[in-house]
Amino acid sequence: MDNTNITILKIGGSVITDKSADDGAARINQIERIASEIAGFEGKLIIVHGAGSFGHPQVKRFGLTGKFDHEGSVITHMSVRKLNTMVVEALNSAGVNALPVHPMACTVSNNSRIKNMFLDQIEEMLANGFVPVLHGDMVMDIELGTSVLSGDQIVPYLAIQMKASRIGIGSAEEGVLDDRGEVIPIINNGNFDKIKAYLGGSANTDVTGGMLGKVLELLELSEQSNSTSYIFNAGNTGNISEFLNGKNIGTAIGTRTI
Ligand SMILES: Nc1ncnc2c1ncn2[C@@H]1O[C@H](COP(=O)(O)OP(=O)(O)O)[C@@H](O)[C@H]1O
Ligand SMILES: [Mg+2]
Repeated sequence: MDNTNITILKIGGSVITDKSADDGAARINQIERIASEIAGFEGKLIIVHGAGSFGHPQVKRFGLTGKFDHEGSVITHMSVRKLNTMVVEALNSAGVNALPVHPMACTVSNNSRIKNMFLDQIEEMLANGFVPVLHGDMVMDIELGTSVLSGDQIVPYLAIQMKASRIGIGSAEEGVLDDRGEVIPIINNGNFDKIKAYLGGSANTDVTGGMLGKVLELLELSEQSNSTSYIFNAGNTGNISEFLNGKNIGTAIGTRTI
């Protein structure tokens, strides 16, 4: 298929859920507002959303980053599915032909890194005018039984496999911030060592590394594929539609500048 001009957009769990809650609390107004911004976009689009309070507290409660647990794996997967259903329904209500793609059903990891993701249905969805909607999930793991798969890991994997031309990670901050709270315009291998002191995990429950986790994934992506991705605030009305319309906002990770 024609793989050109695919956009991958991640929507942080920090935006579409109340991440300070210890069980799934959706921010339905934000989900609907984001769906309407996405509805204006015409191009090929893959959406990945985070798990927020539908995944992180459950993973923590069952200790799933350290041990295998049947019940915890099922409960966490079923919980993130619920959030995914809300996102997919809101997108369809806004006029986007969105379809769910659950990583649990198409991915195998090896020691928490994606070993293989079945992409044929995503390719066919894009070719036929659908918007696949993936999410952070529990997945089968050949070493660990099951493991947590972060949306932040799905984005660069898909970007490479699908040769995406535009990659955006919408989270709850204006970008990657320095020690004074200012947005760092660009992060690459040249300045990462200076900047990493400013990077931390999440202020809320996040088992997949918070902002540092995102930056590490996207730096690795820029090395492997020479692409630039953007971390911006998806909580601000208008940012998602501006990003989809080609405006570079937030922090650029990679070689290109804002
Ligand atoms: N230098 C930094 N700049 C911005 N956010 C940071 C930084 N260091 C740590 N963080 C934290 O990382 C959070 C974003 O990561 P996370 O909570 O995992 O978001 P998401 O739900 O979008 O994946 C921010 O809200 C903030 O609490
Ligand atoms: Mg996160």
